[in-house]
Amino acid sequence: MSYIRGLVERLERLKRERRAVILAHNYQLPEVQDVADFVGDSLELARQAMETDADVIVFAGVRFMAEMAAALNPDRVVLHPVPEAGCPLADALLEPHVTRAREAYPGAPLLVYVNSPLWAKAVADYVVTSASAALIAGYLKNQGYDTILLAPDRNLADHVALTTGVRVVPVPGYGHCPIHEYLVSPYYVRRARDKWEERAAILVHPEAPRESRLMADFVGSTSQMLRAIQRFRDRSVVLLGTEEGLVYRARRLYPDIRVEPLNPTAVCIDMKKITLESIVDALERMKPRVTVDPSIARRAREVIEESVRLAYRLRG
Ligand code: 13P
Repeated sequence: MSYIRGLVERLERLKRERRAVILAHNYQLPEVQDVADFVGDSLELARQAMETDADVIVFAGVRFMAEMAAALNPDRVVLHPVPEAGCPLADALLEPHVTRAREAYPGAPLLVYVNSPLWAKAVADYVVTSASAALIAGYLKNQGYDTILLAPDRNLADHVALTTGVRVVPVPGYGHCPIHEYLVSPYYVRRARDKWEERAAILVHPEAPRESRLMADFVGSTSQMLRAIQRFRDRSVVLLGTEEGLVYRARRLYPDIRVEPLNPTAVCIDMKKITLESIVDALERMKPRVTVDPSIARRAREVIEESVRLAYRLRG
Protein backbone atom coordinates (compact mmCIF):
# COMPACT_ATOMS: atom_id res chain seq x y z
CA MET A 1 0.00 0.00 0.00
CA SER A 2 1.27 3.51 -0.78
CA TYR A 3 2.41 5.76 2.08
CA ILE A 4 -0.45 8.25 1.55
CA ARG A 5 -3.12 5.51 1.26
CA GLY A 6 -1.82 4.01 4.51
CA LEU A 7 -2.02 7.38 6.27
CA VAL A 8 -5.55 8.03 5.04
CA GLU A 9 -6.69 4.57 6.18
CA ARG A 10 -5.21 5.13 9.64
CA LEU A 11 -6.91 8.49 9.79
CA GLU A 12 -10.32 7.06 8.81
CA ARG A 13 -9.99 4.28 11.43
CA LEU A 14 -9.00 6.75 14.17
CA LYS A 15 -11.81 9.08 13.22
CA ARG A 16 -14.35 6.26 13.69
CA GLU A 17 -12.79 5.08 16.97
CA ARG A 18 -12.68 8.59 18.47
CA ARG A 19 -15.99 9.74 16.98
CA ALA A 20 -14.09 12.68 15.55
CA VAL A 21 -14.95 15.26 12.92
CA ILE A 22 -12.36 17.19 10.88
CA LEU A 23 -13.20 20.83 10.13
CA ALA A 24 -10.91 22.51 7.59
CA HIS A 25 -10.56 26.05 6.29
CA ASN A 26 -10.68 26.75 2.55
CA TYR A 27 -6.92 27.58 2.60
CA GLN A 28 -5.83 24.14 3.83
CA LEU A 29 -3.55 21.83 1.82
CA PRO A 30 -5.38 19.76 -0.86
CA GLU A 31 -4.77 16.46 0.94
CA VAL A 32 -6.17 17.94 4.19
CA GLN A 33 -9.26 19.28 2.38
CA ASP A 34 -9.75 15.79 0.91
CA VAL A 35 -9.99 14.07 4.32
CA ALA A 36 -12.05 16.80 6.03
CA ASP A 37 -15.71 16.27 6.90
CA PHE A 38 -16.37 19.92 6.23
CA VAL A 39 -14.39 22.60 4.37
CA GLY A 40 -15.52 26.21 4.48
CA ASP A 41 -15.00 29.87 5.28
CA SER A 42 -14.84 31.21 8.85
CA LEU A 43 -18.58 31.81 9.17
CA GLU A 44 -19.48 28.32 7.93
CA LEU A 45 -16.83 26.74 10.17
CA ALA A 46 -18.20 28.60 13.21
CA ARG A 47 -21.66 27.28 12.43
CA GLN A 48 -20.33 23.73 11.95
CA ALA A 49 -18.53 23.99 15.30
CA MET A 50 -21.80 25.15 16.91
CA GLU A 51 -23.80 22.25 15.49
CA THR A 52 -21.52 19.21 15.66
CA ASP A 53 -22.38 16.23 17.85
CA ALA A 54 -18.98 14.53 17.46
CA ASP A 55 -16.94 13.78 20.60
CA VAL A 56 -13.75 15.22 19.14
CA ILE A 57 -13.18 18.13 16.76
CA VAL A 58 -9.92 18.25 14.83
CA PHE A 59 -9.47 21.78 13.60
CA ALA A 60 -7.42 22.14 10.42
CA GLY A 61 -6.83 25.87 10.35
CA VAL A 62 -5.01 28.50 12.37
CA ARG A 63 -5.05 28.89 16.15
CA PHE A 64 -7.80 31.50 16.53
CA MET A 65 -10.18 29.18 14.63
CA ALA A 66 -9.37 26.21 16.88
CA GLU A 67 -9.78 28.40 19.98
CA MET A 68 -13.16 29.52 18.76
CA ALA A 69 -14.22 25.89 18.22
CA ALA A 70 -13.06 25.11 21.79
CA ALA A 71 -15.01 28.06 23.20
CA LEU A 72 -18.13 26.89 21.37
CA ASN A 73 -17.68 23.31 22.64
CA PRO A 74 -16.75 23.32 26.34
CA ASP A 75 -17.66 19.62 26.68
CA ARG A 76 -15.84 18.34 23.62
CA VAL A 77 -12.18 17.71 22.96
CA VAL A 78 -10.77 20.10 20.34
CA LEU A 79 -7.46 19.12 18.78
CA HIS A 80 -5.30 21.61 16.90
CA PRO A 81 -2.60 19.46 15.31
CA VAL A 82 0.06 22.22 15.09
CA PRO A 83 -0.45 24.81 17.87
CA GLU A 84 2.16 27.18 16.41
CA ALA A 85 -0.02 27.67 13.31
CA GLY A 86 -1.03 31.23 14.21
CA CYS A 87 -2.21 34.40 12.48
CA PRO A 88 -0.20 37.66 12.56
CA LEU A 89 -3.39 39.65 11.95
CA ALA A 90 -5.09 38.12 15.01
CA ASP A 91 -1.94 38.66 17.10
CA ALA A 92 -1.84 42.39 16.20
CA LEU A 93 -4.80 43.16 18.47
CA LEU A 94 -3.89 44.08 22.06
CA GLU A 95 -6.15 44.98 24.99
CA PRO A 96 -5.12 48.68 25.17
CA HIS A 97 -6.25 49.13 21.55
CA VAL A 98 -9.78 48.13 22.51
CA THR A 99 -9.79 50.13 25.74
CA ARG A 100 -8.63 53.30 23.95
CA ALA A 101 -11.13 52.88 21.11
CA ARG A 102 -14.03 52.35 23.53
CA GLU A 103 -13.00 55.54 25.38
CA ALA A 104 -12.62 57.58 22.19
CA TYR A 105 -15.97 56.44 20.70
CA PRO A 106 -18.38 55.89 23.60
CA GLY A 107 -21.55 54.08 22.55
CA ALA A 108 -20.13 52.88 19.20
CA PRO A 109 -20.63 49.11 18.76
CA LEU A 110 -17.42 47.06 18.63
CA LEU A 111 -17.28 44.47 15.85
CA VAL A 112 -14.43 42.02 16.34
CA TYR A 113 -13.26 40.11 13.28
CA VAL A 114 -12.97 36.37 13.71
CA ASN A 115 -9.21 36.70 13.06
CA SER A 116 -8.61 37.84 16.64
CA PRO A 117 -7.69 36.43 20.05
CA LEU A 118 -10.46 34.89 22.15
CA TRP A 119 -10.33 37.63 24.82
CA ALA A 120 -11.28 40.18 22.13
CA LYS A 121 -14.31 38.12 21.09
CA ALA A 122 -15.36 38.05 24.74
CA VAL A 123 -15.40 41.87 24.94
CA ALA A 124 -16.99 42.40 21.51
CA ASP A 125 -20.55 43.45 20.82
CA TYR A 126 -20.49 41.28 17.68
CA VAL A 127 -18.03 38.80 16.23
CA VAL A 128 -17.91 39.12 12.46
CA THR A 129 -16.31 37.29 9.56
CA SER A 130 -15.55 38.58 6.08
CA ALA A 131 -18.91 37.10 5.02
CA SER A 132 -20.93 38.77 7.80
CA ALA A 133 -19.21 42.09 8.62
CA ALA A 134 -21.08 44.23 6.07
CA LEU A 135 -24.41 42.51 6.87
CA ILE A 136 -24.07 43.25 10.58
CA ALA A 137 -22.81 46.80 9.95
CA GLY A 138 -25.84 47.43 7.69
CA TYR A 139 -28.12 46.06 10.40
CA LEU A 140 -26.54 48.44 12.95
CA LYS A 141 -26.93 51.35 10.52
CA ASN A 142 -30.65 50.57 10.38
CA GLN A 143 -30.69 50.62 14.19
CA GLY A 144 -29.41 54.22 14.00
CA TYR A 145 -25.67 53.80 14.56
CA ASP A 146 -23.53 55.99 12.30
CA THR A 147 -20.13 54.96 13.71
CA ILE A 148 -18.86 51.48 14.47
CA LEU A 149 -15.50 50.11 15.57
CA LEU A 150 -13.98 47.15 13.74
CA ALA A 151 -10.91 45.26 14.99
CA PRO A 152 -8.31 44.31 13.85
CA ASP A 153 -8.34 44.32 10.00
CA ARG A 154 -8.14 47.84 8.52
CA ASN A 155 -8.91 46.64 4.98
CA LEU A 156 -12.07 44.83 6.03
CA ALA A 157 -13.05 47.97 7.99
CA ASP A 158 -12.59 50.05 4.83
CA HIS A 159 -14.57 47.54 2.73
CA VAL A 160 -17.46 47.65 5.21
CA ALA A 161 -17.40 51.46 5.24
CA LEU A 162 -17.45 51.66 1.43
CA THR A 163 -20.24 49.12 1.00
CA THR A 164 -22.55 50.25 3.82
CA GLY A 165 -21.87 54.00 4.12
CA VAL A 166 -21.32 53.59 7.88
CA ARG A 167 -18.29 55.28 9.45
CA VAL A 168 -16.04 52.38 10.43
CA VAL A 169 -13.09 53.08 12.73
CA PRO A 170 -10.36 50.45 12.37
CA VAL A 171 -8.89 49.32 15.69
CA PRO A 172 -5.89 49.60 16.06
CA GLY A 173 -5.66 51.27 12.64
CA TYR A 174 -2.84 49.26 11.14
CA GLY A 175 -4.05 45.62 11.44
CA HIS A 176 -3.68 43.70 8.20
CA CYS A 177 -3.13 40.21 6.81
CA PRO A 178 0.35 40.23 5.22
CA ILE A 179 -0.71 37.77 2.51
CA HIS A 180 -3.55 39.98 1.28
CA GLU A 181 -1.80 43.29 1.92
CA TYR A 182 1.39 42.46 0.02
CA LEU A 183 0.52 39.53 -2.26
CA VAL A 184 -2.94 40.63 -3.38
CA SER A 185 -1.68 44.18 -3.84
CA PRO A 186 -2.75 46.50 -6.70
CA TYR A 187 0.43 45.47 -8.57
CA TYR A 188 -0.88 41.91 -9.05
CA VAL A 189 -4.35 43.09 -10.08
CA ARG A 190 -2.85 45.47 -12.67
CA ARG A 191 -0.48 42.78 -13.92
CA ALA A 192 -3.46 40.46 -14.46
CA ARG A 193 -5.49 43.17 -16.23
CA ASP A 194 -2.54 43.94 -18.52
CA LYS A 195 -2.38 40.28 -19.49
CA TRP A 196 -6.07 39.39 -19.70
CA GLU A 197 -7.93 42.73 -19.95
CA GLU A 198 -11.66 42.04 -19.39
CA ARG A 199 -11.33 38.36 -20.37
CA ALA A 200 -10.40 37.60 -16.77
CA ALA A 201 -12.76 37.89 -13.81
CA ILE A 202 -10.82 39.04 -10.76
CA LEU A 203 -12.25 38.08 -7.37
CA VAL A 204 -10.55 39.40 -4.24
CA HIS A 205 -10.93 39.00 -0.49
CA PRO A 206 -11.98 42.02 1.67
CA GLU A 207 -8.62 41.78 3.46
CA ALA A 208 -6.98 43.06 0.24
CA PRO A 209 -6.05 46.76 -0.02
CA ARG A 210 -8.65 49.27 -1.25
CA GLU A 211 -7.12 49.76 -4.71
CA SER A 212 -7.16 46.01 -5.36
CA ARG A 213 -10.78 45.78 -4.25
CA LEU A 214 -11.86 48.71 -6.44
CA MET A 215 -10.30 47.13 -9.55
CA ALA A 216 -11.82 43.68 -8.88
CA ASP A 217 -15.03 42.23 -10.36
CA PHE A 218 -16.13 40.81 -7.01
CA VAL A 219 -15.16 41.18 -3.35
CA GLY A 220 -16.11 38.52 -0.80
CA SER A 221 -15.16 35.88 1.73
CA THR A 222 -13.51 32.68 0.54
CA SER A 223 -16.84 30.83 0.26
CA GLN A 224 -18.57 33.84 -1.30
CA MET A 225 -15.81 33.86 -3.94
CA LEU A 226 -16.42 30.16 -4.57
CA ARG A 227 -20.13 30.77 -5.14
CA ALA A 228 -19.45 33.83 -7.34
CA ILE A 229 -17.20 31.90 -9.77
CA GLN A 230 -20.16 30.54 -11.72
CA ARG A 231 -21.34 34.07 -12.54
CA PHE A 232 -18.15 34.53 -14.55
CA ARG A 233 -18.12 31.28 -16.48
CA ASP A 234 -18.24 33.18 -19.78
CA ARG A 235 -14.80 34.75 -19.08
CA SER A 236 -11.59 33.02 -20.26
CA VAL A 237 -10.31 32.69 -16.70
CA VAL A 238 -11.35 33.41 -13.12
CA LEU A 239 -8.48 34.72 -10.97
CA LEU A 240 -8.71 34.34 -7.20
CA GLY A 241 -7.09 37.18 -5.25
CA THR A 242 -6.56 35.45 -1.95
CA GLU A 243 -4.50 32.67 -0.37
CA GLU A 244 -3.80 30.12 -3.09
CA GLY A 245 -5.42 27.16 -1.24
CA LEU A 246 -8.84 28.31 -2.40
CA VAL A 247 -7.93 27.45 -6.00
CA TYR A 248 -7.89 23.71 -5.25
CA ARG A 249 -11.44 23.85 -3.89
CA ALA A 250 -12.64 26.01 -6.77
CA ARG A 251 -11.25 23.61 -9.38
CA ARG A 252 -12.92 20.65 -7.69
CA LEU A 253 -16.24 22.48 -7.56
CA TYR A 254 -16.05 23.75 -11.15
CA PRO A 255 -13.92 21.40 -13.25
CA ASP A 256 -15.24 23.06 -16.44
CA ILE A 257 -14.16 26.61 -15.48
CA ARG A 258 -10.56 27.76 -15.72
CA VAL A 259 -9.58 29.05 -12.25
CA GLU A 260 -6.09 30.38 -11.46
CA PRO A 261 -4.54 32.19 -8.49
CA LEU A 262 -4.15 35.94 -9.04
CA ASN A 263 -0.71 35.46 -7.50
CA PRO A 264 0.58 31.89 -7.02
CA THR A 265 3.03 33.10 -4.36
CA ALA A 266 0.17 34.16 -2.03
CA VAL A 267 0.77 31.30 0.40
CA CYS A 268 -0.08 31.43 4.12
CA ILE A 269 2.57 29.23 5.66
CA ASP A 270 0.61 29.02 8.92
CA MET A 271 -2.38 27.46 7.12
CA LYS A 272 -0.02 24.96 5.47
CA LYS A 273 1.49 23.81 8.77
CA ILE A 274 -1.38 21.35 9.26
CA THR A 275 -0.49 18.16 7.40
CA LEU A 276 -2.05 14.73 7.01
CA GLU A 277 0.64 13.33 9.32
CA SER A 278 -0.02 15.92 12.04
CA ILE A 279 -3.76 15.14 11.95
CA VAL A 280 -3.14 11.37 12.27
CA ASP A 281 -0.68 12.01 15.08
CA ALA A 282 -3.11 14.31 16.94
CA LEU A 283 -5.91 11.71 16.70
CA GLU A 284 -3.60 8.93 17.83
CA ARG A 285 -2.25 10.78 20.89
CA MET A 286 -5.41 12.88 21.46
CA LYS A 287 -3.28 15.99 21.67
CA PRO A 288 -2.41 18.85 21.29
CA ARG A 289 -5.71 19.83 22.92
CA VAL A 290 -6.92 23.39 22.80
CA THR A 291 -7.53 24.80 26.25
CA VAL A 292 -9.26 28.11 26.82
CA ASP A 293 -10.04 30.11 29.94
CA PRO A 294 -13.60 29.01 30.87
CA SER A 295 -14.92 32.45 31.85
CA ILE A 296 -13.50 34.14 28.72
CA ALA A 297 -14.80 31.24 26.63
CA ARG A 298 -18.32 31.51 28.10
CA ARG A 299 -18.64 35.20 27.26
CA ALA A 300 -17.03 34.70 23.81
CA ARG A 301 -19.43 31.82 23.09
CA GLU A 302 -22.48 33.99 23.83
CA VAL A 303 -21.26 36.74 21.48
CA ILE A 304 -20.22 34.33 18.71
CA GLU A 305 -23.47 32.33 18.82
CA GLU A 306 -25.62 35.45 18.75
CA SER A 307 -23.56 36.98 15.92
CA VAL A 308 -23.55 33.82 13.78
CA ARG A 309 -27.32 33.42 14.17
CA LEU A 310 -27.84 37.08 13.30
CA ALA A 311 -25.59 36.75 10.22
CA TYR A 312 -27.52 33.75 8.88
CA ARG A 313 -30.83 35.50 9.59
CA LEU A 314 -29.72 38.66 7.76
CA ARG A 315 -28.41 36.63 4.85
CA GLY A 316 -31.82 34.98 4.51
P1 13P B 1 -12.83 33.72 5.25
O1 13P B 1 -13.79 33.89 6.37
O2 13P B 1 -13.16 34.52 4.05
O3 13P B 1 -12.67 32.25 4.92
O4 13P B 1 -11.42 34.29 5.67
C1 13P B 1 -10.65 33.73 6.65
C2 13P B 1 -9.28 34.25 6.69
O5 13P B 1 -8.55 33.94 7.59
C3 13P B 1 -8.83 35.14 5.63
O6 13P B 1 -7.50 35.48 5.81
